[in-house]
Amino acid sequence: MSKKYITKAVFPAAGLGTRFLPATKASPKEMLPIVDIPQIEYAVEEALGCDIEDFIIITGKNKRAIEDHFDFALELEETLSNKGKQKLIEQVNRFSEHNFAYIRQGRPLGLGHAVLCARPFVQDEPFAVLLSDDIIDPDDTLLKVMVSHYAEKQSPVLALMEVPPQDVDKYGIVRAEAVADDLFRITDLVEKPSPEEAPSNLAIIGRYILTSDIFEHLQHLNPGAGGEIQLTDGIKSLLSKRPVFGCLFRGKRYDAGDKLGFLKATTELALKNPVLKDSFRKYLIELTGRL
Ligand code: UTP
Repeated sequence: MSKKYITKAVFPAAGLGTRFLPATKASPKEMLPIVDIPQIEYAVEEALGCDIEDFIIITGKNKRAIEDHFDFALELEETLSNKGKQKLIEQVNRFSEHNFAYIRQGRPLGLGHAVLCARPFVQDEPFAVLLSDDIIDPDDTLLKVMVSHYAEKQSPVLALMEVPPQDVDKYGIVRAEAVADDLFRITDLVEKPSPEEAPSNLAIIGRYILTSDIFEHLQHLNPGAGGEIQLTDGIKSLLSKRPVFGCLFRGKRYDAGDKLGFLKATTELALKNPVLKDSFRKYLIELTGRL
């Protein structure tokens, strides 16, 4: 019997991050900071806020910094303690008591393959998947809402956003029927369709609640769009066996895997940062006056 509530989250972080080369040649894209917090920490924080207990990170070559980031930093603690910086110690070590597991994805064969790598840790439980380059505004409650839909429906729930028609070829796009306010039953999915082929303008964004039967479907997939094992194709195959729901998100999301999205996230989250916001706003007003 699978669990009613979600206690495990998978963070695929084994991609090559080619859109951020050369920064990602030797450093993980997931560690690029938005202001002073690495992208993956925003996602881990979001999962923590949903009472998730086990954090499974899919890593690859050049990703060791992620493991160090969530580990206890003894030397830093000593140095900061000597300087009386207690608050900073709490901040840098706050994840070290939580349960993190790391699984290497030998070759980056695609997001679907990365999720399949989590199977030995997830086993037969439902789980969340969070893509850390999709930054959800920390004031939004998307994942919590998805978890509550899962608790009611006991079926997979994908996060959806409306995108402009010219952007559908960047996403997995769904065909769906509305079943309640901002909740849809998904009837078909297409990975990166052309605007003419797209069944709607509802795009899947980087938050998923999945059930363990997805692994059987991922295991038998052939490479799809871009020659990669696509998570979207696995979910499409699952559709023939069980209902899958989509939760429409109307809040603020930044695509930090893209340079412009990264700059927007940095700018808007800096404007919410209690220490920076006033001086940064002043600087932006002055700068726009000069443009
Ligand atoms: P992206 O499609 O953004 O790919 O992956 P990427 O390699 O990170 O970046 P670009 O496109 O080359 O710039 C979406 C998420 O899936 C993970 C990535 O780490 C990212 O979190 N991923 C992707 C894997 O873990 N393994 C893969 O084989 C592919």
